[in-house]
Amino acid sequence: MLYLQGTFLQLLALISCLSFSRARLLPTSKDLRDKYDFIVVGGGTGGNVVANRLSEDPSVSVLVIEAGGSNDVLESQVPFLWTRLIGSTHDWNYTSAPQTTLGGRSISLPRGRILGGSSSINGMLYSRGTSDDYDSIAELVGDPLWSWDRLQPYIKKNELWSPPSSNRPTEGEFDPSVHGRHGLVAISLPSILQPIDDRVLQTTRENSEFPFNLDVNSGHHLGIGWLQSTVTSAGKRASSATSYLSPGVINRSNLDVLLDAQVTRLLVSNATDDITFNTVEFVAGTGFPQSVKATREIVLSAGSIGTPNILLHSGIGDPTYLARVGIKSTHNLPSVGQNLTDHIIAVLPWFANSTETFETVGRNTSLQAILLEQWKANGTGLFSGSGIDHLGYVRLADNASIFNSVPDPAGSNTGHIEITITNGNIFAEPTPDNLILSEVMVTKTLARGSVTLNSSNPLDDPIIDPSYLAHEFDRFALREAVRSGQRFIASPAWEGYVLDRVGDFAMIDIQDDDQLDEYLRKTGSPGLHFVGTASMSPKGATWGVTDPDLKVKGLRGLRVVDASVIPLIPAAHTQVPVYIFAERAAAFIKEDWKLV
Ligand SMILES: Cc1cc2nc3c(=O)[nH]c(=O)nc-3n(C[C@H](O)[C@H](O)[C@H](O)COP(=O)(O)OP(=O)(O)OC[C@H]3O[C@@H](n4cnc5c(N)ncnc54)[C@H](O)[C@@H]3O)c2cc1C
Ligand SMILES: *[C@@H]1O[C@H](CO)[C@@H](O)[C@H](O)[C@H]1NC(C)=O
Ligand SMILES: *[C@@H]1O[C@H](CO)[C@@H](O)[C@H](O)[C@H]1NC(C)=O
Ligand SMILES: *[C@@H]1O[C@H](CO)[C@@H](O)[C@H](O)[C@H]1NC(C)=O
Ligand SMILES: *[C@@H]1O[C@H](CO)[C@@H](O)[C@H](O)[C@H]1NC(C)=O
Ligand SMILES: *[C@@H]1O[C@H](CO)[C@@H](O)[C@H](O)[C@H]1NC(C)=O
Ligand SMILES: *[C@@H]1O[C@H](CO)[C@@H](O)[C@H](O)[C@H]1NC(C)=O
Ligand SMILES: *[C@@H]1O[C@H](CO)[C@@H](O)[C@H](O)[C@H]1NC(C)=O
Ligand SMILES: *[C@@H]1O[C@H](CO)[C@@H](O)[C@H](O)[C@H]1NC(C)=O
Ligand SMILES: *[C@@H]1O[C@H](CO)[C@@H](O)[C@H](O)[C@H]1NC(C)=O
Repeated sequence: MLYLQGTFLQLLALISCLSFSRARLLPTSKDLRDKYDFIVVGGGTGGNVVANRLSEDPSVSVLVIEAGGSNDVLESQVPFLWTRLIGSTHDWNYTSAPQTTLGGRSISLPRGRILGGSSSINGMLYSRGTSDDYDSIAELVGDPLWSWDRLQPYIKKNELWSPPSSNRPTEGEFDPSVHGRHGLVAISLPSILQPIDDRVLQTTRENSEFPFNLDVNSGHHLGIGWLQSTVTSAGKRASSATSYLSPGVINRSNLDVLLDAQVTRLLVSNATDDITFNTVEFVAGTGFPQSVKATREIVLSAGSIGTPNILLHSGIGDPTYLARVGIKSTHNLPSVGQNLTDHIIAVLPWFANSTETFETVGRNTSLQAILLEQWKANGTGLFSGSGIDHLGYVRLADNASIFNSVPDPAGSNTGHIEITITNGNIFAEPTPDNLILSEVMVTKTLARGSVTLNSSNPLDDPIIDPSYLAHEFDRFALREAVRSGQRFIASPAWEGYVLDRVGDFAMIDIQDDDQLDEYLRKTGSPGLHFVGTASMSPKGATWGVTDPDLKVKGLRGLRVVDASVIPLIPAAHTQVPVYIFAERAAAFIKEDWKLV
């Protein structure tokens, strides 16, 4: 009860901003039960996979507790409008600790606070990462079940390959043999094409640094390929909520989903119980803590920020450090919240000799209304996609000087740099000028940060310090990424189309490391792909939070299933790795409890 005293005002504020208490996707006649076999904390990307798979067995009861509300939100359905969810009521609105390596900036770090979690607000890019990514994780944790080959069935359980809403022909844009047609999350190629697409493809023929790759999701992603997205054949976002908690699944009588309820702590059970932590404490409409019990397992799926936050408030962490914020230690696990890892991105803008870019749409509200009507009519048009049509991966040169001091963090078929090209700026208010953008990202970042507590109040935000660019490798690779992006756009394909660089980017000599570093400190932006804060590690290791079966070390009845368990950041946007991990984890749980 320690945190209650100091937080009465905050609780009052919470009461007044919640429109209903205990809103549930349940028949209203049914009350929350006292106990469930399984409780999933966080109805996000990973959590909903587990809830779906466990509740396939009608003999067990499953509860999902989600802090956010329903995903029945237009901006979450219309793919092109995804950026409008950033900073909305469906975003946790986190801000980083000041990043000394980014010139002292505190940067905003969106996370989905809505059913589906970040899969309901993200950019929908579908990228699995490479065989190296998973094989290196399997090797690190000493368990071949995490290797690329052994994970193939789980990739397929997740994926529902789908034609784009326009039904345009897509031969030659993907490799059908590496895709699944029987999973739950719809994946599709762009429904409409962008005017710059031909130049992107021409570049792959002109410059050997950027060869065409038929399918960047084959496990071998080097080169430039067509972007696949979590978008349905109806031109709508596919999230873990729309797919794993579809109406038929929500309808299962053994599955309850509680919305607008924020989990505060897990409580230790009485010694007679089988599992160590059996009680989930949460705050819903009344503003006062309530609780519910799990008889078999609690599955923490609150994401790379939420999961360590809940663990630490439950006393699971480093005892010395917990004592400092006034939290009683229940279980000594010093790695909780450590090893936070994200990607770092540089956004590179050029003026475009075109009027057919996103800026033209962004400036014209009547055009937007027409595009929305078209989307509503049949799910086609610009609004049926994220607007990004291509992405690709490039390796640093084998003789790059950085490898004299830092071992290569990527396997040989893995790029250190990701490049996407977009037909204008989808992230900012539209400018009067028309632009073309390249976003370049360092994939195998080595900087490690942390999630720590600011107070003993579980409703307070934690301190999130990703330590962007704190590692020499990340700074080196981001400089090379900018140069690679510039080479892409310097290919003859872009002659007469790409004009001058824009703003601060125009002011620097990109061959000059110091000038480039300064630009990157000023403009570097977060990948939003956090992993590592409840890291999986070998059984018996002195570091890490979970064993390779995702059970929390030293405890019974508690697992973690979300991005936080991924120990090494994949060279990918992270929703698909989370889906893969969650499908694998659900199978572990079902095996343990002999579920069908
Ligand atoms: C703006 C944005 C764009 C992105 N774009 C892409 C992209 O294009 N492609 C891609 O692959 N990846 C993208 N990502 C990353 C990807 O979406 C995430 O890595 C992934 O969805 C994380 O899954 P998760 O299950 O770990 O967490 P989440 O999906 O975030 O789920 C955590 C859930 O737990 C809930 N929760 C947290 N704390 C509590 C609590 N105390 N009580 C109850 N519930 C709680 C949250 O509300 C949330 O629903 C993006 C992320 C963001 C934020
Ligand atoms: C995030 O910030 C926006 C804008 O200030 C606000 O409307 C929204 O309620 C915030 N989200 C949460 C979960 O508090
Ligand atoms: C929900 O279940 C009821 C009763 O089993 C059934 O009649 C109804 O069709 C189901 N609805 C959906 C969307 O599956
Ligand atoms: C432990 O048992 C006592 C007495 O039966 C009960 O009041 C308390 O709620 C239990 N605690 C938990 C965490 O289950
Ligand atoms: C961070 O992860 C590395 C493995 O990548 C491990 O060796 C190290 O011990 C971890 N640190 C903490 C504090 O858990
Ligand atoms: C906005 O879009 C509409 C519909 O395409 C078009 O008729 C109009 O000319 C546009 N306005 C401007 C200022 O370009
Ligand atoms: C969808 O509707 C638009 C008009 O709103 C029309 O131009 C287009 O042909 C339709 N597409 C399909 C595939 O029906
Ligand atoms: C790497 O090798 C290439 C030729 O293969 C050479 O041009 C370049 O200068 C070398 N770079 C370094 C840093 O040695
Ligand atoms: C931490 O607490 C201090 C003092 O209450 C506050 O000023 C600061 O904003 C908090 N930090 C975060 C990340 O919430
Ligand atoms: C812009 O493109 C047109 C052809 O579309 C070309 O005639 C013109 O020279 C280009 N402008 C510049 C500055 O390259």
